[in-house]
This record gives sequence, structure tokens and C-alpha cells, in this order.
Amino acid sequence: MSEKTSSVHYINYLALDKVLDAQHPISDKGKGAAHEEMLFIIIHQTYELWFKQILHEIQSAMDLFKADKIDESNIGIIVRRMDRVNKIMTTLVGQLDILETMTSLDFLDFRHHLSPASGFQSHQFRKLEVMLGLKIKKRHQFGGCPYHAQFEGKKKEEILELEENNSLFSLIEKWLERIPFLKMEGFDFISKYEGAVNEMLEKEIAGIKAANLTDEDRALRIRMIEENKKYFERVLSEDEHNKAMEDGETTLSYKATMSALLINLYRDQPILHLPYQFLRSLVELDHKIATWRFRHVQMVEKMLGQKIGTGGSSGQGYLKQTVDKHKLFTDLANISTLMISRSYLPELPKNIKDTLGFNYTK
Ligand code: HEM
Repeated sequence: MSEKTSSVHYINYLALDKVLDAQHPISDKGKGAAHEEMLFIIIHQTYELWFKQILHEIQSAMDLFKADKIDESNIGIIVRRMDRVNKIMTTLVGQLDILETMTSLDFLDFRHHLSPASGFQSHQFRKLEVMLGLKIKKRHQFGGCPYHAQFEGKKKEEILELEENNSLFSLIEKWLERIPFLKMEGFDFISKYEGAVNEMLEKEIAGIKAANLTDEDRALRIRMIEENKKYFERVLSEDEHNKAMEDGETTLSYKATMSALLINLYRDQPILHLPYQFLRSLVELDHKIATWRFRHVQMVEKMLGQKIGTGGSSGQGYLKQTVDKHKLFTDLANISTLMISRSYLPELPKNIKDTLGFNYTK
């Protein structure tokens, strides 16, 4: 069927005339176009298309989490969408390999045409960061200018509004706080867990005392376990946790952290399996974005060395700072520090196992 007679035609449906007519190298205004500029444009456009898809998925997850009552089947949908986002992120990291087929000398053939354009001005990338929960006070600043100074009009308003709204982080925190598993009839999770940790540490101390070690070595190992015990006590104390939040050392609330711990420990319970996968997917996303940031820095180092960026930052110096500082779900990743082996895990009473039906949202 021809383009004219068909109501839905491949070319029209995909708006290919617009998409394929959207590459306009600016280096051809002088002596002749720089060959590599086409790759530079297409790579960036491809990134922006994938950012669009990621935002679409994250927005849908946020919409599902906004509901007061979260339908359990929706957790499965969200897990699948987060998995898709993570697969896209893998592709986005991989795409840098293609761009790196351009050398720094090739880049210099057209870089002077680009200033002051910069990745700083990627509105979708900023939207993604803010929607995930990156707050302005947590950002690594450069040149005393807020990141949104790069935008004007509606684009700026949109970013400022997103800063004020719920983020995926805040919605997840509320969802974790609502999960009513921490205190159930006949089962107080935190005190049971504390008991299990103490039992584990006492056994470790008994093992060290019985082992064939020098006095010095034995004392050192026991001191290490006592330090470990203090760490657990600090994490389990709500007051200490709130203080750590005030000091900016941790972001996730005490209740949400305890729920996340419970989900991680009892992940084998069918009802907690999907929430566990979901929490895992968030840590995965954080790591993938950090991997992208790190690979982007390495590429910038190869292309520019110590040159400053077209957006006016110190270039790789600035970008390196963002790799760790802009992570969002570190508190969830740190739950692994609190894991104890299944053999110490307090057995859930039968009545609780039975009541762990599939109706756990308020
Ligand atoms: C030759 C290739 C590239 C070079 C030399 C480069 C260089 C830079 C530099 C120096 C910065 C810091 C801001 C500035 O002062 O301009 C930056 C930021 C950024 N670039 Fe690139 N970039 C390249 C490719 C890409 C690609 C393919 C993307 C994909 C979208 C991208 C996205 C970004 C983003 C989102 C930022 C802001 C990061 C942040 O503030 O955390 N860049 N880039």
C-alpha cells in the first residue's frame, strides 16, 4: 500500500520525515562539514529519545505509587517497567562506545561551533534527576549558579514545579512507611531482629574465644565485633537515625528503612517477593546512572583532557563529583550491611504467615 492511500503508513506513523530531517550539522557553514558531527548529533538525539521513554516509565510508576491504596498487581507492573528502564540504561552506557569511535582531534573539527551548548541544557536529563528525587541542596554546584538557570520560560517553570512535587523517592518512602508489617499481632519485627543480631554476634564472639589465636589477635577480633554491635545499635535506634538524617548522613526515614530491611530479610515470603525486586531495581538504577556518569567522565577525559566544558563547568572535575554525590538510593543499597544469614532469621509465627495475604496496603 502506498503512503498516500494508507491511513497508517510506516513513514507517517513514525513521523520519519520529521525525525530524519532533524540533523543539521553546523560545521558545514564554513569550509566543509566535519564528518563526525553527524554522529555527534545522532548520538545525542538517540539519548534524548531514550530519556523520553525512561521518563514515560518513571512517570507511570509514580502515578501508580500516588494512589492511597496500591493494588498489589501494580507492583508487578512497576517492577517490569523498572526492569525496562534499567535495560535502556545499559544501552545508554553502551552507546558511549560508539561515540568514542570519534577521536579528540575529530571533535576539535567542530567543537568551536557548539559553545555555549552543553549537556547541562538537557531538560529531560534534569527532569529525570528531579523526578527520581535529586534535590537542589544535594547537588554538586558549579560557578554558584543553580542548575535550572540553564532554562527559561515554560521549561524552567516545569523544572521548578517538579522540585516542589513528590518524587519517586518520596513516594516510595511513604509507601514503605505505610506497609503494616513492622508490628503485627505477636511479632515485633525490630525487637525480634535485634535479638537475632545479638545471638549472631554472641556466637561469633564464642567462636573467636574458642579459636586457636594469640591473645592480641583474639582481643582485636572481639573489638571488631563490638564495633559491629554498636553499628547495629545505632541503626536500630530511631533517635540516632533521626540525628543522622538531620546531619545529612542518611535520607530515608526510620520507618521506611525498617520496612525496607524487613522486605530484604523476608524476601522469600511470596508477598514480599515483588516489593523486594522493586527495591532492588531502584538500587540497580542508581548504579546504572552512576556508571553512565562515570563512563561519560572517562569519555570527556579522552576528548577534552583538562579543558573546561562548553557549558562553563570545570569539565571532568565537576562531572566526577556527581558520580557518587548524585546517587539517590544509597540508603537502600546500605541495607545489605544489616543482612543476617537465614539461619538467624526469626521465624515468622504461623498466624502471621497466614495473615501475610496479598492485602497489605491501606
Ligand atoms: C564528545 C562528547 C561529549 C563531551 C566532550 C561532553 C562533555 C561534557 C562536559 C564537559 C560536561 C559538563 C558541563 C559543561 O561544562 O559543559 C557535560 C555535561 C553533560 N553531558 Fe556531556 N559530553 C559529551 C557527550 C554527551 C552525550 C552523548 C550525552 C548524552 C545525552 C551527554 C550528556 C551530558 C549531560 C546530561 C550533562 C550534564 C551532567 C550533569 O550535570 O550531571 N554528553 N558533558
